Amino acid sequence: MYKISLITGDGIGPELSESAVSVLNTINDKLDLKFDVIPLSAGDKALEQTGKALPDETVKIIKNSDACLKAPVGESAADVIVVLRRILDLYANIRPAKSYPHMPALRDDIDMVIVRENTEDLYTGKEFSLGNSAVALRIISENASKRIAKYAFETATQRNSKKKVTCVHKSNVMRVTDGLFAKSCLEVSKEYPEIVFEEMYVDACAMNLIRQPESFDVIVTTNLFGDILSDESSQVVGGLGMAPAANIGDSFALFEPVHGSAFDIAGKNIANPSSFLLSIKMMLDWLGTKNNDPLCFAVGQKLESTIFDLVKSGVKTKDIGGDKTTSEFTHEITNHLTTN
Ligand code: NAI
Repeated sequence: MYKISLITGDGIGPELSESAVSVLNTINDKLDLKFDVIPLSAGDKALEQTGKALPDETVKIIKNSDACLKAPVGESAADVIVVLRRILDLYANIRPAKSYPHMPALRDDIDMVIVRENTEDLYTGKEFSLGNSAVALRIISENASKRIAKYAFETATQRNSKKKVTCVHKSNVMRVTDGLFAKSCLEVSKEYPEIVFEEMYVDACAMNLIRQPESFDVIVTTNLFGDILSDESSQVVGGLGMAPAANIGDSFALFEPVHGSAFDIAGKNIANPSSFLLSIKMMLDWLGTKNNDPLCFAVGQKLESTIFDLVKSGVKTKDIGGDKTTSEFTHEITNHLTTN
């Protein structure tokens, strides 16, 4: 039995959480893998109700669980996810972007993953006012840069793909901070002679993600650039509704969609739950590796192929050109999970 903490979130968060719980319950009932899901509050609603966006009790329960699922939260995101990443030392943010069939994607042969450093850069919140100016500290360390570079090369080694790592930075302008990041990645690359290593400035990378997205395999980059480029890579393969993410540390991991709480469509039952359900697939792979549990991999594979087959047959939500509501699409998944 795996204990899964679940932050239900704001905006479309509760709708996505309902879909996730429904899929996990189906797995519990029909596929022999057992989950105990503990719903937790964090985000704008928690702030309103308790005065804290990330209540202490929520953190305590997360720390006692086997893994955390997090639906998107709203304006308090920095006080929830950025803090969780830091206190749980979830240093690697993994954001795959893969072409699915019949999607509004640029091409059908895109298969890349962005490995984003998750603990440093401009996201440490070290900002202050100085007279009439505002200052933000950009922290980049050799240790964190080498650690994320290593994760990227290990990812490229394990993937059955192009065996390439692209290090994305802007060291021609930010010579000290990005200079250190680039140098650290280059040094780590020497331990992986079988992996092709290239460097690319972030502006060129933003362009190449549109011009030749199929050329990428693993992109390793700093926190802010990774955040921006992963929204772009998600859109390149059809949209944020299909974009999952994992925040991984040495002993714990948290899984969430790339996107935010989408207040513009909240409460309408039209959000695409695939981003969150594919995050569950990433969680199953991580649990499978950590616990040496082949059933996790098998169920994860089944979940992904069910989503793949449904999308291929035209059963889709509105954001990717279909007409299914969130609950109808979820129902299709739970039905197919047990029948194929
Ligand atoms: P967003 O990512 O929530 O939405 C961008 C666009 O994508 C919107 O048009 C939205 O309708 C669409 N979209 C997103 N997810 C979708 C889904 N599953 N199905 C269909 N369409 C989907 O970005 P936005 O509007 O800038 O941010 C909204 C809130 O989310 C903000 O308060 C922000 O602070 C928060 N946020 C939270 C994050 C987190 O919890 N990790 C991450 C990013 C933003």
